[in-house]
Amino acid sequence: MPSQGKGNRLDASAMMMRLTLPYIVFTLTFICAKNVANAAGDHWCYTEDNCDASTWGGECQTGKQQSPIDFTQKNTIQQNNQVRLRFNRKYSDIQDHFMIKNNGHTIQVQLEDDITSDLVMDGDYFKGSYRFSQLHFHWGSHPDKGSEHVVDGNGYVAELHLVHYSNDYKSLKEAVGTKNRRGLAVLGIFFQLSSEDNPALDPIVEAISKVKRQEDNLVSVQIPLNVSALLPNDLSLWRYYGSLTTPSCNEVVVWTVFKQAVPISRAQWKAFKDSADSGGRSIIDNYRPPQSTINRKVYFFNHVLRERMPDAGELDRNPPLADALYDTAQKSVNSKSSSSDDKNSQNGSNSGRSDVYNSALTGFIFLSIFLQVLITTVLKCR
Ligand SMILES: *[C@@H]1O[C@H](CO)[C@@H](O)[C@H](O)[C@H]1NC(C)=O
Ligand SMILES: *[C@@H]1O[C@H](CO)[C@@H](O)[C@H](O)[C@H]1NC(C)=O
Ligand SMILES: [Zn+2]
Repeated sequence: MPSQGKGNRLDASAMMMRLTLPYIVFTLTFICAKNVANAAGDHWCYTEDNCDASTWGGECQTGKQQSPIDFTQKNTIQQNNQVRLRFNRKYSDIQDHFMIKNNGHTIQVQLEDDITSDLVMDGDYFKGSYRFSQLHFHWGSHPDKGSEHVVDGNGYVAELHLVHYSNDYKSLKEAVGTKNRRGLAVLGIFFQLSSEDNPALDPIVEAISKVKRQEDNLVSVQIPLNVSALLPNDLSLWRYYGSLTTPSCNEVVVWTVFKQAVPISRAQWKAFKDSADSGGRSIIDNYRPPQSTINRKVYFFNHVLRERMPDAGELDRNPPLADALYDTAQKSVNSKSSSSDDKNSQNGSNSGRSDVYNSALTGFIFLSIFLQVLITTVLKCR
């Protein structure tokens, strides 16, 4: 019954177009309006409709390996071999002063005016060493949200980011500007509420009182700070390639997130929640929601050793493992999954089952073309 089949096909695709056209026009208008509003002020935020994470442009929207992510049983590959994180001697020193800034999005701490330092780390599967640049926090309005990364869908009250850039570059800015997917190494640390203060956090909490309201300048404080005391005792970690979690979301970060959460008291949490932006709005829920992990592999290492990194001139008896194994694993996993996807889709399209199936297919093709037009127009109107 070929003619009847053809009729079905046309009916189905015509209906499909009637249904999708208004939807497309609506979406287009909506997205364009949002982007124009966003581009106008170059302003981004977390909790207001006209500037929240869904409106962030550039790589935040078009990227393929964005951060943060949800660590699940399904997307994680457990590695039982031992890996090491190494921190240089200076990393465990007590800094006699530090600088703090409220930039309206977060509270940021740095050791030098030029966001650099003498604190260096490296480790297995990193490529080369990384210099500590700044640390900052993300926090929530409720104990079960605030962290950027989440574990099986569950968030933590806060997350600390220790931002490092590769020693291959002269500055954080230079490393961010490259296309190197491991130009930066960020260590992520979860916080969970505790009845007692976290003493490692006290110096920062004390200094927050000096930057309650957003200011563009750094405030230098003479309070002793031990950066490495902020790390958890158990260094079991997730490792994956991702991005900055704020605009412009550059995909230049090798992420390390520790499984063990460290404590924060309610009073310490309150100090963060009491900070405000230049308009007097409190800075709260300043986290980006989890992003897709499709075609990405996430590794979990449960045997992590903390070591001291040899100083310059000291013999390195046991240098970190190269990243070859990690890269090979990543590649073979990706190519395996994509090639099996290809086979499935080939088989699917060759096994035409019925006219209904064919007309649905035609409709789908029309829809794809419209989506392509939609995407092109959206890119133009941005
Ligand atoms: C800084 O903290 C680390 C980790 O808790 C500790 O090993 C180190 O001894 C501390 N540094 C000093 C100078 O106390
Ligand atoms: C395609 O489908 C047929 C029938 O279902 C099956 O026997 C065959 O193995 C499939 N081929 C591939 C490449 O998946
Ligand atoms: Zn961050």
